[in-house]
Amino acid sequence: MSSEKRILLIIPGGIAAYKTPDLVRRLRESGCSVTCLLTQGGSEFVTPLSLAALSGQKVYDGLFSLTDEVEMGHIRLSREADLLLVAPATANILAKMAAGIADDLATTTILATNKPVMIAPAMNVRMWDHDATRANLKTLLGRGVFQVGPNKGSMACGEFGEGRMANVDEIVRKVGSILSKGNIDLPLAGRRALVTSGPTHEPIDPVRYIANHSSGKQGHAVASALALLGAKTTLICGPVALADPAGVETVHVKSAVDMLKACELALPVDIAVCAAAVADWGIAEKVDHKIKKSEDDKQVINLKKNPDILAALAKRDDNKRPALVVGFAAETEDVVENAIDKRIRKGCDWILANDVSESKGIFGGEDNELHLVQATSVENWVRMSKVAAARTIADRVAAFFKAA
Ligand code: CTP
Repeated sequence: MSSEKRILLIIPGGIAAYKTPDLVRRLRESGCSVTCLLTQGGSEFVTPLSLAALSGQKVYDGLFSLTDEVEMGHIRLSREADLLLVAPATANILAKMAAGIADDLATTTILATNKPVMIAPAMNVRMWDHDATRANLKTLLGRGVFQVGPNKGSMACGEFGEGRMANVDEIVRKVGSILSKGNIDLPLAGRRALVTSGPTHEPIDPVRYIANHSSGKQGHAVASALALLGAKTTLICGPVALADPAGVETVHVKSAVDMLKACELALPVDIAVCAAAVADWGIAEKVDHKIKKSEDDKQVINLKKNPDILAALAKRDDNKRPALVVGFAAETEDVVENAIDKRIRKGCDWILANDVSESKGIFGGEDNELHLVQATSVENWVRMSKVAAARTIADRVAAFFKAA
């Protein structure tokens, strides 16, 4: 099978569509094959003939055609690609995507796909800032859609602001990072990362255990995001109901002691992100049989402190101490103050603190509201999806190594 990555480029009707012939050319130069699908609006801005010439492939248009459906149905079109790229992503197509509308070949193909989807938004600054567009974007990012741009600048409509489609090079780079193509420079290429995720289960006896709440969603998303930026990533996860993330080496463990052992085996790494909700205590003495209920109302179980994996990684004094050690702090009160203290106590470089009070709905939920605590600064991030938070974390990790 060819290693060439296949891009399905969906071109809606926006003025920035004039850049798509150049985009096709650059994507092909970077080693991708490109199939173009023009919406009816898109074909007002760019001709199928120029796209066919540059892509070397048949160009599909906005309407269903009997011949096209027989030769290559819209389902196959969306499944045969490695990535769907919507450029320029107009306010209209973002709204349709968010609502799940499928009223032409482009939107039907997007709705039917099981492949990553990337949008390169381009529109007037007021449309971009409109609450409706913001809400649609949030929905799409929460579903894992990738975004590149828009940038600030003067627009075709004469206004100035955010809304210009990302430039072609930026789009090609982002496509490369999503498809992890070796011939495109990724910011974390050559780096190794370790991520812990999920809870640990500490057996009380063969049928019972103690554990913390944790879905593993945030940790798994961080592992995926680091891998997408090119880091060779190992995910050490406790028992979760999530699939192993693509492109990440995943090691499954149960207890805190096993998690620590697996982390040590994964060293050396450049980046360690400890997102696991490790149980603070394990059972002091191993019990091989099911503990029977006694007449007594009380049951005494002796606990012993578990190893602190984050502190163990951060406080290593050999050459295996990762250059950047990041922890999370799940707090229910004085979130930032406790996190500042926790960062120092555990010896890590950054702490991402979140308020896990029940009212915030963080446990098991899709969103997270984080504060990034570093040695000399605290940043309060807006509430965003766990996937978006993971990408923000990965981008910050990349910026750290760029500046190093
Ligand atoms: N952590 C760890 N190993 C442990 C306990 C926690 O690696 N045995 C890591 C978590 O993955 C997280 C950070 O330490 O990155 C903070 O976890 P948290 O549960 O908030 O802190 P605790 O250590 O439990 O501290 P406290 O009970 O004082 O809040």
